[in-house]
Amino acid sequence: MSQSARPPMDPAESTPEAAVRGVRIVTPIPGPKAREIVAADRRYLMTSTKAAPVAAESASGVWVRDVDGNRLLDFTSGVGVVNTGHCHPDVVRAIREQTGRLMHFAGTDFYYENQTRLARELTEITPGSFEKKVFFSNSGTETVEAALKIARFQRQRPITIGLLGAFHGRSTGALTVTSSKPVQRARYQAYAGGGHHIPAPNCFRCPYKLEYPSCDLYCAKVLKELYFETSIPPDDVAAFIAEPVLGEGGYIVPPKGWHQEILKIVKEHGILFIDDEVQAGIGRTGKWFAIEHHGVEPDILTSAKALGSGLPIGATVFRSELDYPKQGSHSNTFGGNVVAVAGALATLDVIRREDLLKNATVQGALLKRRLEELQVKHEVIGDVRGLGLMVATEFVTSRSDKTPAVALRDRILEEAHRRGLVLLPCGKSSIRYIPPLVVKAEEIDEGVEILDAAIGAARRGQ
Ligand SMILES: Cc1ncc(COP(=O)(O)O)c(C=O)c1O
Repeated sequence: MSQSARPPMDPAESTPEAAVRGVRIVTPIPGPKAREIVAADRRYLMTSTKAAPVAAESASGVWVRDVDGNRLLDFTSGVGVVNTGHCHPDVVRAIREQTGRLMHFAGTDFYYENQTRLARELTEITPGSFEKKVFFSNSGTETVEAALKIARFQRQRPITIGLLGAFHGRSTGALTVTSSKPVQRARYQAYAGGGHHIPAPNCFRCPYKLEYPSCDLYCAKVLKELYFETSIPPDDVAAFIAEPVLGEGGYIVPPKGWHQEILKIVKEHGILFIDDEVQAGIGRTGKWFAIEHHGVEPDILTSAKALGSGLPIGATVFRSELDYPKQGSHSNTFGGNVVAVAGALATLDVIRREDLLKNATVQGALLKRRLEELQVKHEVIGDVRGLGLMVATEFVTSRSDKTPAVALRDRILEEAHRRGLVLLPCGKSSIRYIPPLVVKAEEIDEGVEILDAAIGAARRGQ
């Protein structure tokens, strides 16, 4: 595989590349070097979840330079990870400094100060006016696994309930509650683990064909009125898990009051409520954690992805009284790795110092407004939804019958990539827009203009 002659973009020093503005396309995408990498990947890597032939060489802020020298606009944040922007200089500096001092010392067996500092900060910024504790791991899946284990250990009950369409990870434990696509569960017997599901609240496609608010939140009340009366014995349930905004399932925001109603029902039976903030947390929606929009306090909260700005770290934050009574019931080797923790502390610092919660709110409103303008122009946009900078459009063949336009959505993604806008799908026929929280108004405008052109090209090709 050929190596690029170009020196890598160093975000810690401001390079001429970082100062260049706008998308710049110098080869077809994928270019020759990207095609070589894709071919080698196909040969040597396990068949997995690749979404587009975009091969990155370096990145800064919202901009990615690919291996062929194209300058791309990233509206994916590396799947909701680089909320502080690619290679934020302060995060890079903190990681470099820590790497030179101490890289690993098994934080589950021994002690170092920055781990307790991060745990304390997380207990302070997570919702809930009660005492909390933290378990560190390396990924979103592991935070969910830990949450489910805490709930099962403490409640000694066999059932967990999740939402149809939700994604919580792919380990066999997390799969019992994941249900965003059949392919994620097929042949793993993921149904054996006491996992039950109820339909997710979805006002655009109400599973009960009702209208909000005259529905009186039946999508929440159904848990008590139907499931607890028929298939699920409530006193056998350890936990109810939900994302505050359904992520992989299509960026679906539950209606106002849904969380309150669910919390009321589960509390009646001592069922723990797990809030999975792996994708929606760390400022993405304009609040530290998206559940703050819904005004309830979870018993257990999971956070990963953006917590480390790119370094693998996950945190399960829970009521102190749910802690294990003695050591050994749950642990790992790399959880709370000292370098990942340094990255996470710097991440929280940058979000506070640069007021990124506010920027997510302001730019998120602009993004949504611009997408709503596109909706007026393009009949195929059935819905625009989201909170802060966690926004999606759902594509339909016509607004009246709302048939999901899956092939069209896939063509729009291809057309956008060819034009230098990196995007990811979600749900059956939606596209998510999750630029880093440092995004500026002119970058939102540029992204939406490219999207407009991509939709036009994809529709002409129909
Ligand atoms: C809500 C949610 N939970 C859990 C996970 C799993 O996280 P990871 O891929 O880091 O294991 C994801 C990943 O997309 C997610 O979106």
